This record gives sequence, C-alpha cells and structure tokens, in this order.
Amino acid sequence: MAIVAVANQKGGVGKTTTVVNLAAYLGALGARVLVVDCDAQANSTSFFGIEAATGLYEVLTRDVDADATIRATETQGVHLIAATPALAGADIELLMRGGDPNAVLRDALAPIRQQYSYILLDCPPSLGVMTVNALVAADAVLVPVQCEYLALEGLARFMATLDRVRVQSNPGLRLFGLVMTMFDARTVLSHQVTEEVRRHYPSLTFQTVIPRNVRLSEAPSFGRPILAYDPYSRGAEAYRSLAVEVAERAPALVS
Ligand SMILES: Nc1ncnc2c1ncn2[C@@H]1O[C@H](COP(=O)(O)OP(=O)(O)OP(=O)(O)O)[C@@H](O)[C@H]1O
Ligand SMILES: [Mg+2]
Repeated sequence: MAIVAVANQKGGVGKTTTVVNLAAYLGALGARVLVVDCDAQANSTSFFGIEAATGLYEVLTRDVDADATIRATETQGVHLIAATPALAGADIELLMRGGDPNAVLRDALAPIRQQYSYILLDCPPSLGVMTVNALVAADAVLVPVQCEYLALEGLARFMATLDRVRVQSNPGLRLFGLVMTMFDARTVLSHQVTEEVRRHYPSLTFQTVIPRNVRLSEAPSFGRPILAYDPYSRGAEAYRSLAVEVAERAPALVS
C-alpha cells in the first residue's frame, strides 16, 4: 500500500532504529510489512538478526526479482530485503547502466507493493544515488530528527532535496512526518529543539517523541526489535505509540 522512505542525510539520528521498531509494532498491529535495507552498512538487516549473502544489490544490479530476495524475519508480519556489503558498489553500477539510475528501486518494487501494507525503506546517511532511489520509489518520507543543536538547519537542507526529487522524478512524494528521536527530558536542549521543530512543522511532527533509552541501543546486539527484547521499556512504549500514529495517518498517503 504505502512505500515510506525513512531518511535524513545526517548519520546516526535513529533511521534504522525507527525502521526496525516501527516495522515490528506495525506487524504487531496486524499489518504486513516489508523492510528494504537500502544501506550498505546493513544495520537493519543485522538489527533483525539476519546475515545475508544476497539481497537488494542483486535486485538493483543483476535484475533479480525483488520477490525472490524477500525473506521472513522472526518478527510477526515483517519481511526483509537484506543489504549486503556489495551494496556499497551499487551506486556506481546504477549510474553506469542504461535508463534512469534513480528509478531502479521504484520499478523493482512495483510488482510486489500490493502484497504489503507498508514497505519501509531504510536509507543510508547521504543523499547519494541509493537515497534518491528510495525517495523516487516512495509515496512519502518519514524523517527522524535527533534532538540536538542545528537540527533545523539540517532539516531545511533535506527539505530542499525533497523539492528537487519532486520536480525531477516524483511529483507525488509527500512528507509523512517528522519524528523527534533521542529525546533527553533532563536537557534544556532536547526541549528547545523539539519545540522549535514543532513550531516550524506543527502538523507534520508526530506527537510521539522517542526518548533516549539504553534498551533501544541494546536490542540490536540481540538481533531483535525492542518489542521482543524489552516490551515494557520506555523506548518500546514510544515506538508502539508511533506505530499507532503512523497507522492513523497512513490512509491519507495513498488517497
Ligand atoms: N532512542 C534511542 N535511544 C538510545 N540509543 C539510540 C536511540 N535511537 C538510536 N540509538 C542508537 O544510536 C545509534 C544510531 O542509531 P541508528 O543506527 O538507528 O541511526 P541511523 O540514523 O540509522 O544511523 P546511520 O546514519 O549510520 O544509518 C545506534 O547505536 C542506536 O542503537
Ligand atoms: Mg541506519
């Protein structure tokens, strides 16, 4: 149904943590979710405890059907197209093949999109060919914003990129929402940044704020989403509530 790119050119802001945990809670709500790991770091692949020999790289560069690379995860309702280290070379191969290098992912996902309620694209921390492919394939973008100094400046640059993608390739691309991450209630800065982002993007900022929570950073080393690792932690509650908000807003994306 909806293809959502989780993107922000800034590194370490919680993109992968958001993809994996949102996918898990959407799955728990009964949705069919496909996570596509678009990052050669393969973090969302390993956050699900999966080690893959093949995956998105073969889809993008070897014309392998996306369907053939989908694997189940141990998380209810969640499937994965994995990233492998080879994906680091996909950018250059995409640029050298014929046709539009930015629309390869969109075309690859077209035959399978109807099988899923959500396809979540975990983007790398850059605005390279891989991220642009994700933005061209997506119906909407969900942007994790870390509660830190200069968050708004980074966001403004990212918004300009979205505008360029709309003009050149994907006029229907919507901004699904901004989710504040790593909120630390004890710091003035966290409160200030959250208020500032809400002031600029009042209706677009999700009500749910993701707290800085050590359980969220521990879960990946056990290869499980927070829902399986510590479902009563504050981080788990936050991602559960984000999933509810996402499910409420999602129908508007495809209307
Ligand atoms: N809410 C949180 N509380 C505590 N730690 C967090 C939280 N969100 C993410 N982290 C940790 O911060 C680090 C960066 O998070 P994550 O990998 O999700 O960011 P990313 O934006 O995907 O990074 P990259 O740009 O490298 O892909 C990870 O070690 C993760 O476990
Ligand atoms: Mg990541």
